[in-house]
Amino acid sequence: MARMYNRKRPKNLRHTLAAFLGYLRRHWLLLTLVAVLAAASALANLLGTYMIKPVVNEVAVARSLDGLARGVILTAAIYGVGVLSTLGYTQVMVRTAQRILYDIRRDLYGHLQCLPLGFFDRQRKGDLMSLFTNDVDTISDALNNSFASLFQSFVQMVGTLLLLFLLNWRLSLIVVLGYAAMFLYIRYSSKRSKFHFDRQQSCLGDLDGYVEEMVAGQKVVKVFRHEAENLAGFAKRNEALRQSGTAAQSFAATMIPAVVSISYLNYAVIAVLGGIMVIHGISDVGSLASYLVLVRQSAMPINQFTQQGNFLLAALAGAERVFSAMEEQPETDTGTVELVRTQQGPDGAAPPSGSGTWAWRDSAQADTHLVPLRGDVRFSDVTFGYDPGRTILHGNSLYARPGQKIAFVGSTGAGKTTITHLINRFYEVTGGAITYDGFDVRQIRKDDLRRSLGIVLQDTHLFTGTVADNIRFGKLDATPEEIRAAAVIANADSFIQRLPQGYDTMLTGDGANLSQGQRQLLAIARAAVADPPVLILDEATSSIDTRTEALIAQGMDHLMEGRTVFVIAHRLSTVRNADVILVLEEGRIIERGNHDTLLAQKGRYYQLYHGMCELS
Ligand SMILES: Nc1ncnc2c1ncn2[C@@H]1O[C@H](COP(=O)(O)OP(=O)(O)OP(=O)(O)O)[C@@H](O)[C@H]1O
Ligand SMILES: [Mg+2]
Repeated sequence: MARMYNRKRPKNLRHTLAAFLGYLRRHWLLLTLVAVLAAASALANLLGTYMIKPVVNEVAVARSLDGLARGVILTAAIYGVGVLSTLGYTQVMVRTAQRILYDIRRDLYGHLQCLPLGFFDRQRKGDLMSLFTNDVDTISDALNNSFASLFQSFVQMVGTLLLLFLLNWRLSLIVVLGYAAMFLYIRYSSKRSKFHFDRQQSCLGDLDGYVEEMVAGQKVVKVFRHEAENLAGFAKRNEALRQSGTAAQSFAATMIPAVVSISYLNYAVIAVLGGIMVIHGISDVGSLASYLVLVRQSAMPINQFTQQGNFLLAALAGAERVFSAMEEQPETDTGTVELVRTQQGPDGAAPPSGSGTWAWRDSAQADTHLVPLRGDVRFSDVTFGYDPGRTILHGNSLYARPGQKIAFVGSTGAGKTTITHLINRFYEVTGGAITYDGFDVRQIRKDDLRRSLGIVLQDTHLFTGTVADNIRFGKLDATPEEIRAAAVIANADSFIQRLPQGYDTMLTGDGANLSQGQRQLLAIARAAVADPPVLILDEATSSIDTRTEALIAQGMDHLMEGRTVFVIAHRLSTVRNADVILVLEEGRIIERGNHDTLLAQKGRYYQLYHGMCELS
């Protein structure tokens, strides 16, 4: 009862229903079986009640013991069929429901993987998680409980009405009036309680959010000794939830007694009128007995029908959120240029083979012309904004020749990370173009484009698994030797060796058992194992001790050898070694050149450089 109105109704019922039916249709055979068995169970129930009439008449009118025995055995058989059908449809439904849920979860996860980063930027992390937990859960509840019983109670409701009319149509007119009163009351009270339940739900959301935020920010809370304010804030939300919860639950709790009273009243009136009819010979005793039991039973399917109907609506609201995530536009990939390995020289038209050097091939072209992978990246007049109203990068042009090191420097928020995120198409440029070995990056198949780029992100993310697993993320088929070699390049080998289980040490909670510097070294090793021709390094700004900094710098330097590198530099050593330094301010490249020429200009770089000197 408590949960029946507490989720919002779907906004576009028809659309959601259509999508939902799409999932049901795949299992139509099983669902038909459920429907047939549920109908059989309902009919057996009705027929069993109807059997009271002949049995009572055999006893009261014919006084036949044989007739009684026959009647009882037949009734028992009917109820037996009913019980078996109920068992059958619930079991089949459970299995079908689990298959449908499996399909929904699979499709949802699959789709989320294909969505562009822009989608994730717009979401709160908790909301996406709740798609898999709360929303799939309500669908599961509805499928497991409501779906079949909705059908069953519907058949029973219609069947009861038919039987009532068949047994005594005059009395049935009164029964129908009672039914109508019940329906009206249920509708009225659902509307009223929906208001309270919505309020309860929003108070609950508020409380959840508060707890989540405070748990996550425990360190900050302790640092600023905010415990007392925190508790007061919690108490306020807790009280609001108590009030709305009381209103919602107490209102909902009036429903069943009200419906039951109406049905008792109905029953009493029918019993009196029916009795009078029997006395006057308008009806027989058996019909009346059967009739009265039916009237008593009739409240149940009505109640169940509305209740399960509400469950189903709640499930559809959950389903709507799931389906609308599934209808989000996935990342587009119309690229035809593929990355292949070739044995031949740069311009040879050789078939690709398993080893050798990398080359590009345009599969849309008829010839097998191969363009060697060199790592030449050019930006021409590139403009970009995350949101339509706000441009972050303004008409930037730059080029990186194969093997060059390009360093971006600039104050925080200047757009350094953003500019690198355009190369691998995390985001699409809004104006201008980026070419890679002469191909527009949009022409290149996304998978191949990203394979050819090694990226060390500004914020390291480690997955639950061993240290080796985390490095292997860069190349799934890397051998233990390759992993070790990559760790050596990244200067991570020595600290890994000192971990309790070395390369087999389990990392949990995003590598919480490692230091910041160690996490960065692992991220560098991960890029190193992929051995990409082009490398993008976004140095983390977090300050680390000078020894670790030197280690990381060495790791990066090893990794940069012989590759085209874009590096977002916060460290002096990295900047000084760069072939070209681009100074970015408010989304514009305002200075370019090498360390010495830029210093001589005494411009922005000069200021930044002296700032960095002071820091280090
Ligand atoms: N996902 C995003 N959605 C919307 N705006 C963003 C997003 N990421 C960054 N921005 C905005 O783009 C601008 C440039 O951010 P960017 O991360 O590129 O700066 P940055 O130069 O890398 O700074 P830092 O040195 O602090 O890393 C900032 O004004 C920021 O607010
Ligand atoms: Mg950045």
